[in-house]
Amino acid sequence: MLQNIENLENPSNSNDSNRVLKYHVETYGCQMNVYDSEIVSSMLEKSGYVKTEDIFSADAIFLNTCSVREKAEETVHNRLINFKGLKRRKPHLLLGVLGCMAQNLKDSILESKPYVDVILGPDSYRRLPEIIKSRERLEDHFVDTKLSKFEVYENMFPSRKEGVNAWISIMRGCDKFCTFCIVPFTRGRERSRSIQSILDEARNAVEQGFLEITLLGQNVNSFNSPEGKFPELLDQLARVEGVKRIRYTSPHPQDINDDLLQVMSSHDNICNYIHLPLQSGSDRILSRMNRTYTKKEFLELAEKIRFYMPDCSISTDIIVGFPGESDSDFQDTLDVMSIVKFNSSYKFKYSSRPGTKAAEFSDHIEEDIKQKRLDEVIELQKKITLDINSTYSNRVVKVLIEKNSKKSDSQWSGRTDGNTWVVFDKQNESIKDFVDVKISGTKGVTLFGEIV
Ligand code: 5AD
Ligand code: SF4
Repeated sequence: MLQNIENLENPSNSNDSNRVLKYHVETYGCQMNVYDSEIVSSMLEKSGYVKTEDIFSADAIFLNTCSVREKAEETVHNRLINFKGLKRRKPHLLLGVLGCMAQNLKDSILESKPYVDVILGPDSYRRLPEIIKSRERLEDHFVDTKLSKFEVYENMFPSRKEGVNAWISIMRGCDKFCTFCIVPFTRGRERSRSIQSILDEARNAVEQGFLEITLLGQNVNSFNSPEGKFPELLDQLARVEGVKRIRYTSPHPQDINDDLLQVMSSHDNICNYIHLPLQSGSDRILSRMNRTYTKKEFLELAEKIRFYMPDCSISTDIIVGFPGESDSDFQDTLDVMSIVKFNSSYKFKYSSRPGTKAAEFSDHIEEDIKQKRLDEVIELQKKITLDINSTYSNRVVKVLIEKNSKKSDSQWSGRTDGNTWVVFDKQNESIKDFVDVKISGTKGVTLFGEIV
C-alpha cells in the first residue's frame, strides 16, 4: 500500500550525522524489477542504509520503474508528482528514479520533475554506494543511463526476505526486437551470467531455506554462457541438493527446443509448467510484430511440449489491438487460445511505445475496439480456465504450501507444480510442507480442496 504524502504534517528533517540513514524502494513492473530492487537493497545495506517502509522517515527514496506500457509510466509520473511536496519539506531527502523509465525518459523527467536527484538506468546500480557517499556534495542531478554489454550483477546476491521461492536472474537484456516492445531499448543487449555463479546463488538460497527457484530473464531461454546454454543450466540446477522446484520466466517460443524439453521431462523437480507468450494468433500480425513464428509453428510447439510432458500447464501473453489487427486477425488469436487451451493468460491492450517500430505504423486501432477485443479474450480465457480446472474435481494434487490464504488465516494457499493456486483448510502443517490435496471445486483461477 502506498503512503499518502499529502497527509504529511511534520516530516523529520534531520541532518544529524550520527543518525542511521534509511532508504525506501518502491517497485513497479515485472519480476526482473523486483529482483533488481533486491540487488539495490543489498547494495544500500552494505553502504550502511537501513530499509524502511515509511516514506516519511526515509532519507532516500528510489522508484524502480517500468516502461512496458503507457499506464505503468503514468503511475510513476503521478507518484513523483506526489513526492514534490515531500522534497520541499525535507530538502535533504534523496529522490531517485531507477530502471526502464530512467533509461527511456531521463530528459523528460529532468525537465518536468527537476526535484528528482538521481536517475539510474538498469545497468548502473553499482554506482549507488558512491552516490550515497557523496550525497551531501551532490549539488546537481546525478544521471547514469549507460547500457552495458556486460553488466549481469554477477556475485551481487540480492537481499532476500525469507520465503519459499527465490528468484534468480540469469540473463539480462533482449535481442529479439519485437516491434511493440520497449525492452530491448531500455534493457539493452542480451548477456548471461556464468552457470557457476547461478549454481552458487541457488545453493545459497537453499541454505537460507528456499525450496523453489524461479529463473528470471527478459528472454530467459536464450541464456548462453561459455559453460553451456539454457538446457545445460537447467540440468545442472536440477541436481543441486535441496532444490525442490524449478520454474523459469519469460521464454521466447523460438528458443524452446528438444534439448530443453528433454531436460524438463527428465527431472521431477523441474515444474510441468511453461509460460509460452503467443502475443497474436495471426500470421500477418505475428510477422508485423517480428515474433519469428507462425500460427502453425506455435501450435506445433504447444503439441510438442505436451508430447514431452503430457501434464504440462501452459500460460501465455496476448496483445489485442496491435496496429492493423483486423477482425479476422483477432479471430486467429481466439482460435489459438481455443486449440491450445492455455491454463491462464496475461492479456494486454496494445500500448504504443515511442521509439519502437510499431509506434511508427499508421494503422493504429481505436481504443473502443481494443477494449472490446480485450473483453472477449478475458471471457474466453475464463471459460477455458474453468473447463480445465473442473477436470481436477476429486483428483489429488501435490501442493507446496506457500502462505496463508488471502481470505482466511485458517486456510493455506500453495501451488501445484503446474502453477495453479490451491486453497485448503489448515491442519497441522507448516509453510514449505508438500501436501496432497483432494480437489473439491474451482473459482476463478484457484482450486479448492482438502488435505488427504
Ligand atoms: N503493449 C502491450 N503489451 C505489451 N507487452 C510488451 N510490450 C507491450 C506493449 N507495447 C506485453 C507482451 C509481453 C508482456 C511482458 O508485456 O505481451 O509478453
Ligand atoms: Fe520484448 Fe519481445 Fe524481447 Fe520479450 S522477446 S522482451 S516481448 S522484445
